[in-house]
Amino acid sequence: MRLPGGDLPNRLADRLHALDYTVEGVRRLLGPVAADALGRDETVPATRRLIADDSPLGAVVCLFLLGQPVAERAVVDALGFSPSHLGEVVEVSDGHVRARVELAPYAADDHDWFVASDWSARRTGRPTAADHVLGVGGASTMLAQCTVRSEIGHALDLGTGCGVQAFHLAGHAERVVGTDISARCLKFASFNAAMNHISLDVGRGNLFEPVAGERFDLIVSNPPFVIGSPSAARHDYRDSGLEGDTVCAAVVRGASGHLTESGWCQLLANWEITDGDDWTAHPRAWVAASGLDAWVIQRDAQDPAAYVEMWLRDAGQQWSAEYRDLYDGWMSTLERRGVIGVGFGLISLRRSGRDAPVQRFQHAPQAWAQPVAPDVERWFTVHDVLASDPASVLMQPLRIGSDVVVEHHHRVGDDEEVMILRRSSGMGWSGPVDPFGRDLMAALDGVLPAAEAVLAVAAEHAVEPEGALAAAVPILVQLAVEGFVL
Ligand SMILES: C[S@@+](CC[C@H](N)C(=O)[O-])C[C@H]1O[C@@H](n2cnc3c(N)ncnc32)[C@H](O)[C@@H]1O
Repeated sequence: MRLPGGDLPNRLADRLHALDYTVEGVRRLLGPVAADALGRDETVPATRRLIADDSPLGAVVCLFLLGQPVAERAVVDALGFSPSHLGEVVEVSDGHVRARVELAPYAADDHDWFVASDWSARRTGRPTAADHVLGVGGASTMLAQCTVRSEIGHALDLGTGCGVQAFHLAGHAERVVGTDISARCLKFASFNAAMNHISLDVGRGNLFEPVAGERFDLIVSNPPFVIGSPSAARHDYRDSGLEGDTVCAAVVRGASGHLTESGWCQLLANWEITDGDDWTAHPRAWVAASGLDAWVIQRDAQDPAAYVEMWLRDAGQQWSAEYRDLYDGWMSTLERRGVIGVGFGLISLRRSGRDAPVQRFQHAPQAWAQPVAPDVERWFTVHDVLASDPASVLMQPLRIGSDVVVEHHHRVGDDEEVMILRRSSGMGWSGPVDPFGRDLMAALDGVLPAAEAVLAVAAEHAVEPEGALAAAVPILVQLAVEGFVL
């Protein structure tokens, strides 16, 4: 596909900004009901809303978000130039213009960006092509909101697709490299970067090949992690072509050779679960071999059938005549591999230089209040401070997080109270707490060492001081790791 270069991306973006073609501007135009429906890929309410609208913004929404033909005159009025300058972004026939790609506004990090991508299967009603370029989806935004955003030198977005992770990286990295196996993706990423005034170096090739010998302070990747099947047609965005979940193992392995000292790598991943009692086996082996500090969080696990259905639908393959055969073949592949479930989650890695890396595995299906990046960063920082000497937590001037609440529960007909400590932001951790723990949390004042609070509460509860201090250490470490105390 030929996407326009030169100053055209800037001219187009400037014009779209001037029309208020932003997430907020579109929402104002469509109203909340139609805008929410569009967020679910349903275009009917927005189409109804715009039937009697002849504004330039309405024309642009019809063209680039709803995928409808728009009168050429209206497009020229809206953009201020002939659509023929847009190359293969549009096709013009019989006085009407139709967009061949979606060009959506995307708001994040105080920016109003634009992202061109292929139309999704839900929009076209047809299966996606093998070289389909994904737009910004739920996985993209999840990774973006989990990414630690400190100021850094070099950053890599591996499998950049439309470039969305790279745009976030550009806000805090001096140089951003986006790599992809797909030339088509790189064209879209470069076009989008130009529209968004972002400097992006691109490299084409398999995994880390385009950046051989380079090191990065941060590597992010939303890789083609789907555990595929030779029977299901391959899609660049979904299938790596590697066996099972080994593409994620390869990203983890590659990261360890491409991180600077104290560099980070964060990726989304799927892992095969072959033992009902232990979802961690595969990611545990990957991170053990990396020698990096690692926090592996499983958000969700699906059974094989639900997994296959989800990914066939994602590519619009439920409409294909071979749906049953694709489904059957994919189930056979998973069965042959002994897969009884597929885990999905976030892997955060960091080079700490410690001889014995800290590696932890947690299932966290509770609701998250994004961004959770501060929670990720805190987890690593707490281990830096406390890993070699956990008891030093007692010397820290800890205080309770402002988002922490205590819930009181009673079983019906039972006077005994059950208290739950809960965080209302970030990862939303919760857990039971006893009266001693509740009083200790309240006594942490952020000024005196935590040991003082432990001793004061021990005296109130008539608990032997030495025992209270010893018992408090692992509890305070856990509370610090999960962000209940800061
Ligand atoms: C799930 S998409 C992610 C797109 C984007 N980064 C995001 O967060 O939405 C995965 C991307 O990886 C690319 N890809 C597939 N196989 C690859 C490989 N072997 N090496 C590098 N990139 C690959 C695909 O072309 C696709 O753009």
